[in-house]
Amino acid sequence: MLLHLGCVQTLVVSSPEGAEEILKKQDDVFASRPSTKAWNLLLYGSRNVGFAPYGKYWKQAKKLYVIHLLAPAKVKSFDRAREEEVSKAIEKIRLAHELSNPIDLCEVFSSFTLDVICRIVSKSFSKRHLLRELIEEGTTMFSEFNFEDYFPTLRCLDMLTGFNSKAIKIFKQWDELLDEVIKEHMNRHLNGEKDEEYLLDVLLIQANKKDDFELTKDHLKAILIEMFAGGSHTTFITIEWAMAELVQNRKVMKKLQEQFRQIRDVKHILTIENIKEITYLTCVIKETLRLHPPAPLLVPRESMQDSNVKGYRIPKGTKVVINAWTINRDPNYWENPDEFYPERFMENTVDFRGNNLEYLPFGAGKRICPGINFAQSNIEIILANILYHFDWELPHGEELDMSEAAGLSARRAENLRLIPRKIDR
Ligand code: HEM
Repeated sequence: MLLHLGCVQTLVVSSPEGAEEILKKQDDVFASRPSTKAWNLLLYGSRNVGFAPYGKYWKQAKKLYVIHLLAPAKVKSFDRAREEEVSKAIEKIRLAHELSNPIDLCEVFSSFTLDVICRIVSKSFSKRHLLRELIEEGTTMFSEFNFEDYFPTLRCLDMLTGFNSKAIKIFKQWDELLDEVIKEHMNRHLNGEKDEEYLLDVLLIQANKKDDFELTKDHLKAILIEMFAGGSHTTFITIEWAMAELVQNRKVMKKLQEQFRQIRDVKHILTIENIKEITYLTCVIKETLRLHPPAPLLVPRESMQDSNVKGYRIPKGTKVVINAWTINRDPNYWENPDEFYPERFMENTVDFRGNNLEYLPFGAGKRICPGINFAQSNIEIILANILYHFDWELPHGEELDMSEAAGLSARRAENLRLIPRKIDR
């Protein structure tokens, strides 16, 4: 469907065949991103990877993610940090259980995912509250309307609506916060401490290399914001939806719990090693992401030259939105598409990695998400442990609201509140 949203020509793709055309057959043409006011204001002129236009910088920075920051071996090296953060989350839940209170799982999962990312990015990151606030406010701004993106001649109205001042305020707070963290790591480098344990050290080492990859402080900051926000937000949204689906589908929850509870030699928590054989867990996560992709419209693309898609002429500069939410539920590919049925993934070979255009939680093609392994490990370990340690119930008399909040990231409209019941061992 070709639309004119203000001055912006927009192609909306809602079928796996259309997605194949854009993300596979003509990936070279559609691999750029449109320029967006909120991204430019909050991310140093879109100097992160996700919003950068296609080109030399994007290629080098994406490689940095794939080879250095989030390569499988690097992700594995975070296992201990991840397991320690899981222990803390379980303790938090135990405390709530002793008080017989329903627990806000949104709070537990968002703290967990942010704590993991903070631990692996930087040696010391004390201002977690501020960080969370900035991520919330920043991601909300990405969904907010502004005049400049759609009616450039009316851009001065963004001053009247408060859009500009709000973005500038958030940006300044981010900038100060990141300055502090970067300064501290740079001082450690000056003192000869140059380990690559923390991702910020990896970034600083790359930035100091004398090669043609220009990674300025602004680039570093934009990438850090991307890791904090992209690395935590999408992941906790998924974990919360998975738990909501499991509470609604008790047979599936029970089947998973039985598999976890049969594992032998568990010390304090289930480790990544303990759960690696439980393929049903991967099926549950895949099914959650099929029904509730945290980026239901992916991240928009932009065409870099005139092209032809299924007989329609698409001019250079067209914005392309892939409706992954609809594609993931296409009845031509998915039987009973609205049903939560993880077993469907035991019977097929559909994966996360953009090979199947009827399933796009992480996108596909050149701009596919580089955080798949990292996100998957975080989701698996926390879900496994909260199901292993506790049974879960809705607060008495409450029904679960499964509606989505408005906005670009399809999080739950209401925080998930459940009562944990400790199990006898
Ligand atoms: C459940 C968790 C996650 C989901 C569902 C998700 C989803 C996505 C989607 C849909 C895209 C756009 C793909 C496209 O345009 O085709 C994307 C891009 C991206 N994601 Fe993720 N993501 C997740 C976790 C992460 C994590 C943990 C990180 C890093 C710490 C990350 C970093 C990125 C980056 C850097 C891009 C931009 C890639 C590019 O433009 O080349 N994501 N993600």
